[in-house]
Parts: sequence; structure tokens; C-alpha cells
Amino acid sequence: MTGERWRDVAHIGHAELLTQVPEDSLRYFTSLLGLSVVAEEPGSWYLRGYGDYEPYCLKLTAAARPGLGYMALRAWSPEALARRVAWLESAGVPGAWVEPEAGKGPFFAFEDPDGHPVRLYYETTKYVSPADSRPAMKSNHQRYTGTGANVRRLEHVNLMAADVRACRVFWENGFGLRTFEIIRDADGWEDGAWLSSTVQGHEIIYVRDYLGGRGRLHHLAFWVDSREDVLRAADLMNDAGVPIEAGPSRHIPIQGFYLYTREPGGNRIEICSGGYLGFDPDDNPVIWTPPEYAAKPGWGARLPSTFRTYGTPPLGDPSETDTSGWPAP
Ligand SMILES: [Fe+2]
Repeated sequence: MTGERWRDVAHIGHAELLTQVPEDSLRYFTSLLGLSVVAEEPGSWYLRGYGDYEPYCLKLTAAARPGLGYMALRAWSPEALARRVAWLESAGVPGAWVEPEAGKGPFFAFEDPDGHPVRLYYETTKYVSPADSRPAMKSNHQRYTGTGANVRRLEHVNLMAADVRACRVFWENGFGLRTFEIIRDADGWEDGAWLSSTVQGHEIIYVRDYLGGRGRLHHLAFWVDSREDVLRAADLMNDAGVPIEAGPSRHIPIQGFYLYTREPGGNRIEICSGGYLGFDPDDNPVIWTPPEYAAKPGWGARLPSTFRTYGTPPLGDPSETDTSGWPAP
């Protein structure tokens, strides 16, 4: 990327997650993750983490298949939103305005180069907690609930893509997102890219869909305040009989501390903390070659093979259900 970086995207706002077992999924997100329901409509619930300044960070929707409904990003201003919509139109990316939902929007809806639905918005509602959950500190948005893993907010969205590089360039050139790390082979083909609109090392991640799917979700990640909270979440999941796919351990990219489970609908969900912040405004992403990455320079467990193959919706490939590399129950 050359020239002045666009500063029009403020942060990731929320994601819509699809599930064919909505009641079970709702229980996972409320009882185990600690999100609370702020609104509902036929077939959907809107849920928030206790740290959200907006009303919600997750829309959970009943559907025939699991996966991503859409990912929403908030623009810095109405003008910023208009500039990005104009860019999408000039780039020939089809899109349309969508009505507001539960206090956010209107949205401009479009798709990334791999077909993941994305929405961009500016208008929102600042959350005001009811009297019985008002915090002591006016700088907090609601009382500290301490429910389940007690996640604070949606941290990042990880998407599978046939062409990671095309998706990365789309966000860099069109929206000014910064790339922090890339896994790139000698031919220029990319296996992963970690992008963000903030100093947080990742907000939007693309990893290669080795099974050739399109528009699949790898995982949604929710933030807790400490590594110890991630370990506590592992205890909670274990006691609740929720299989742990990976972790607790530390990633190579961004160095986040992670725990991966699947919610009842089959979508992979991460509870995360830690990781570095990036303050350097220059474009100098860390580039890993596949052998460097495979050598695993950091400590911690290796990821199971399902991490490369399983996404939602699943494709039915036998490699997606090979749990032989999972932690022992
Ligand atoms: Fe992640």
C-alpha cells in the first residue's frame, strides 16, 4: 500500500452467527461465555459482552446451516461511511443498503472477494444498562457480571478463503486496514493474513481454505482480560462437557493466548487474551515462510489437523472430523 492510509474504519462491531440448534447455541453463549441477551426477534437474539459500548456484539440466528451470517464494521463518521461506500461502488463491488437492526445501522451490505457477507455502518446506540446492572464506575458500560467465562467483547473474526492475498489486498487498499502478519510461500501464495483497523494485532483474519470452500467461517473470538481467565474458561468448558479442540496455548501470529471449542451449532469459538499491540504506522508486516511457521518458534501445543480443514458450514470431508489430534478429554 502506498500513500496516506484510509482511517475510515473504527473497529469491528459485531457478527451474525448462524446455527441450526438456536436454543442450545443460546445457552452456550449466555451460560458458558457470559453474554447477555439485549433484544430478540423471530429467529434471532442480540447478545452483548459486559464491555460493549454498543448494544450488542453478536447476533445469533436460526438457520439451516451453521456459519457466518455477516460481519459488521463501524465507520469513524458518516463521511467515512460515505467514502467507503463510494470506493466500493468505484471498485465495482455490488452492495445495497440494509435497514437498521436493534439499534445499529443502516448498513451498507456487500461481500469480500471470497463471498463472506460484510456490513458497514456508522449509526449506533450507546448502551445504557438497566438500573439493576448499572456499574459503580461511569466509565464502564454495565456491571461486571462474572457469569461463565465472562467475555468482554467480540475480539476478531477469522475467515477461510480460497485466495487469502486477494482478501488482504481488498481490505488494505479499500479500507486502510493494516496487515500485521502474513504466511507467504516462495510463489507469493498466502496461507494466512492478520489485519486490523486498530493497534490490536488482529480484527479480521484470513486463512486458506485448503478444502476449496467459499465464504466459510473459521472462528469468532471473544476477549477475556487475562491468560488466567482463558484457563478458567477451559475449566468451565471441561466441566460442561464441551470438547476442547485446541489450547489453552499461545498462537504464533499476534501471540494471542487461546482456547478453542465448538458451540452446539458447530461453529468454532475462541476465548482469547494477550497478544501484542502494534504502534508502528509504517507498513512492515511480519512475513513468515511456511517452513518458518511450521518450525513453531513459540512455545505451546501444535494445532490439530482439523484447524486447517474444519470451518462452517462444513463440507463433509473426512479430514474435518479427524479428532485424533485433539487434547485428551
Ligand atoms: Fe483467533
